Amino acid sequence: MNKDFISIADYSKDELEAIFELTKELKEKTRRREEHHLCKGLTMAMIFAKPSARTRISFETGMYQLGGYALYLSPNDIGIGKREAVKDIARVVSRYNDIIMARLFEHAHILELAEYASVPVINGLTDYNHPCQIMADIYTVLEHRGHLNDLKVTYIGDGNNVANSWVNLASKLPFHLVLCSPSGYEPDAETLTRAHAAGVSQIEIIHDPVQAVKDADVVYTDVWASMGQEAEAEQRRKIFMPYQINSQLMSHARKDALVMHCLPAHRGEEITDEVIDGPQSIVFDEAENRMHVQKAIIVKLLNKA
Ligand code: CP
Ligand code: NVA
Repeated sequence: MNKDFISIADYSKDELEAIFELTKELKEKTRRREEHHLCKGLTMAMIFAKPSARTRISFETGMYQLGGYALYLSPNDIGIGKREAVKDIARVVSRYNDIIMARLFEHAHILELAEYASVPVINGLTDYNHPCQIMADIYTVLEHRGHLNDLKVTYIGDGNNVANSWVNLASKLPFHLVLCSPSGYEPDAETLTRAHAAGVSQIEIIHDPVQAVKDADVVYTDVWASMGQEAEAEQRRKIFMPYQINSQLMSHARKDALVMHCLPAHRGEEITDEVIDGPQSIVFDEAENRMHVQKAIIVKLLNKA
């Protein structure tokens, strides 16, 4: 394993599969309420430059279940890169804590944090990617389907951090990824080039949502304006409206297609109530699995399994 968990692209297929195996084991133990204090006495600093529900709750609870302790540092606390240099925070926190999880704006900052921290660093989202989310997502798909053979995932909406992580996953595990965004809002070009070059998955860009969802096993979306893009929200609403996941669009997908969203959802924008609350939606399994998969990542990075 690498020292850090910054991008899915930094991991091999075997390493990712080992994380999923451990996730299963830890999830079963959690369900049985069986003690699994693999990180007894260890502490995690959680640095947040942006808001969060799932990431904070799942990491904090997960670390407690592993017998450790997680410390929440809100956007008002550290002021990473503003009040203090990223590399200084990296070195200071490494003196107190055994592992760091950070949610930051600039991806360069998480790379710098990892470079200067002597302890492992986990990426809890940057403007560029959200690897823990997509690890939980694919694990959830695996649970529901039992395998990942002949999988077609259609991502509809903004080519944002979540979409970039789907592309990174496609560079490691084989599946068919369809990306459907308005022109000019596609995922990161360099990431797409690398994923195409890896030759692991079929990756297609299709601008028409109806065509994009055809034969999809998973229809996935995320908010149209991410954290930090609030000023563009109104303009984006207009541009993205044809990319809404609603019953009409779902009628063009497979009848048993799974609907996913990393949450928080803007109901009535990228997804309608009837779809997110409907029988095909697995959004809450997906949210739960954030905790299980992240526990496995923590345990692996700390060499405790
Ligand atoms: N999906 C996700 O990361 O949620 P939060 O922003 O609430 O942590
Ligand atoms: N793309 C969203 C994901 C939130 C979990 C954002 O960055 O705000």
